[in-house]
Amino acid sequence: MSYSAVEWAGENGWVKNTFWKSRRAGAWVSAGALALLPLATGAATPAKIEDTLAARLAACSACHGAQGRAAPDGYHPRIAGKPAAYVYHQLLNFREGRRAYGPMAALVAGLPDAYLREMAEHYAALELPYAAPPPARADAATLARGRQLALQGDAGRQLPACSSCHGPALTGRLPATPGLLGLPRDYLNAQLGAWRQGQRGAHAPDCMATIARQLSPEDLGAVTAWLASQPVPAGARVAAAPGPGEVLPMQCGSAVAP
Ligand code: HEC
Ligand code: HEC
Repeated sequence: MSYSAVEWAGENGWVKNTFWKSRRAGAWVSAGALALLPLATGAATPAKIEDTLAARLAACSACHGAQGRAAPDGYHPRIAGKPAAYVYHQLLNFREGRRAYGPMAALVAGLPDAYLREMAEHYAALELPYAAPPPARADAATLARGRQLALQGDAGRQLPACSSCHGPALTGRLPATPGLLGLPRDYLNAQLGAWRQGQRGAHAPDCMATIARQLSPEDLGAVTAWLASQPVPAGARVAAAPGPGEVLPMQCGSAVAP
């Protein structure tokens, strides 16, 4: 694996840090954040749980930005305001090896379910504004194709609309499907690529693995270009859970609450 050093200055004047970006996997390792890892193994006595939670959340901000609003580097994803059950699933996925990113796995290793749930609920409850999206870096035909896939799908390629599961406005759907807006394109590409290659998994049946493999490389690029260029509607809310009798176009083990 080859590494390149990337200088990154965090928000709010946070100390300049050196990240090593793995060119192959698009994964990031932060020397500064690794220094915080002992927090994850520190003994937590029940009486001090508040303090310990605050300390752990400070470690999260080092990579995910203040209050989990995403880092300005175009990769570290926002976690604030995502459905609690989705965030909880991801913490389980890192702990149990369905998602592979060393520093995240180290941070949550050995933490009990209840603690992960508490962190997930903390982030889910945050209602914070989103930054405006960067200008689209794709031509009009590509963006039109991306929009079509996101909102209508492509029956010929057995691709349901992303919005059929991620909510009509793509702002997520309860209990556990995340929104697709407000995420950097590099992050979206990396996640869909990881699913295609078996490096990201979710609770079975893993509908996203099927969808990511069904997308051609061109369609994958088109849908992420369009998604990353869309503003998050002001006052956006996660859509209500599917009603009784309403079925998703595919079964997803991760779309239900844990
Ligand atoms: C060393 C930097 C780093 C630290 C510290 C860190 N994260 Fe992460 N986190 C990442 C990266 C990078 C990803 C995306 C990994 C990937 O490519 O799958 C990620 C992904 C996530 C995701 C999945 C996001 C999504 O939309 O699927 C959640 C949830 C998360 N982190 C929560 C946390 C919490 C909670 C903490 C603090 C306990 C934390 N992270 C600390 C780097 C970090
Ligand atoms: C059949 C339902 C379904 C459809 C259709 C669907 N998704 Fe998903 N998607 C999910 C679920 C459920 C998750 C959460 C998986 C998990 O827990 O890791 C998810 C997660 C994701 C994520 C991870 C987000 C993050 O923050 O890391 C991306 C990216 C994604 N989907 C993109 C898409 C795109 C693009 C489309 C359309 C081409 C699409 N999805 C269509 C159900 C669906």
